[in-house]
Amino acid sequence: MIGQEVQFPAGFVWGSGISAHQAEGGNDANDWARFERAGGVKRGQVSGPASHHFERYAEDFALAAELGHQAVKLSVEWSRVEPRKGQWDEGAIAHYVDVVRSARDHGLSPYVVLHHFTNPLWLEQYGWWKGGETPALFERYVRRIAEPLGHWVDTWITVNEPMLLAGAGYLFGVWPPQERSYRSTWSVARNLMKAHILAYDAVHEVAGVCRVGPAVNVTAFKQPHRAPLRDRVLGSSLDWFANHYYIDRVRHRSDFIGIQYYSRATVQQLLSGDPLAVPDGMRRLPKTDMGWEIYPKGLYHTVRDMWQRCGLPIIVTENGIADANDERRSLFIRDHLVWLKRAIDEGADVRGYLHWALLDNFEWAEGFDARFGLIEVDYASGERTVRPSARYYEKICRSGAVSLVDPVPFDH
Ligand code: BGC
Repeated sequence: MIGQEVQFPAGFVWGSGISAHQAEGGNDANDWARFERAGGVKRGQVSGPASHHFERYAEDFALAAELGHQAVKLSVEWSRVEPRKGQWDEGAIAHYVDVVRSARDHGLSPYVVLHHFTNPLWLEQYGWWKGGETPALFERYVRRIAEPLGHWVDTWITVNEPMLLAGAGYLFGVWPPQERSYRSTWSVARNLMKAHILAYDAVHEVAGVCRVGPAVNVTAFKQPHRAPLRDRVLGSSLDWFANHYYIDRVRHRSDFIGIQYYSRATVQQLLSGDPLAVPDGMRRLPKTDMGWEIYPKGLYHTVRDMWQRCGLPIIVTENGIADANDERRSLFIRDHLVWLKRAIDEGADVRGYLHWALLDNFEWAEGFDARFGLIEVDYASGERTVRPSARYYEKICRSGAVSLVDPVPFDH
């Protein structure tokens, strides 16, 4: 018998996220800004002023609080804090102190990410993330920033989606530094493991009482029931490489695991590079504006698998949808949360859910076309408009429950 609502555990934390380079705007000193200037992004777009968040963070936190959020995932931009190797920008450090203090003043717990894809330009001379010295250079920066922020921050994320950074930047060559090399990809993955472990110890040393973990991208690998042996073997190898390889090596130095879930993938799709190549015997699913399949049950599978494998508390640190017209976002949220609760009911220790994103922002190689925000941003003026789905999510944040009977805005 299905009840009228799905109630989350007491103390479950609700919120949303954003990252520095995607939202702040006005920073030229990192590898992404250079990649953008060189034409690396769709239709030659550059992040420029982005979502104007560098100046408007207090307004954004006020909106998040008004929408019932209790936590906000945000990142510190390494290239602002250390624009030249060993030279610390005290103004930038003071800025981030103001940011985390402002989050607290608005009743939001800041979940601070220390590395969210971007790197200072000077890191090039060390071979970016291939270089053997990079984990230690990262650790220096972590010590420098974690100490002044520690008073306001109790949840730290070391590295955001390390395997995506390794894959997109060093294997597929679609992100900076645009390499295509297996050897580099392995070195980068291993250096990002070292970076996590060094940062974990450093933050615990300098930032006071807190919890520290990585945030990993997870994909639900699915196969038709009677998939050929080749696809089944390939499917499990991909599952291991994408979802577990990194975590298996860093979980002994993690207080929690941040899971970032967006979609499923089939071996056929990956081999053909065609997102429409859904094999016979599998249902076609609705898609986001970016063509990603909407597969809420995948959140259940990936959370359950991670819990069974690691036994560490889990926070869903990202989950969201590119949906410029806000037609599918509410239903997306509802369905993912219903499946998340199933994983919790089966024993997974899940502590919170942060929707991606608080604001429309610069979606990396897709530029500004993909709109993930609960809040719409007019990029020219910076004006913010709360979307109907943000109001829908607000009810969930305030009640800790997902109604199965209340109407969902734009339920197509
Ligand atoms: C990243 C975000 C990104 C989101 C949607 C994650 O891979 O952490 O920066 O905007 O997914 O693609």
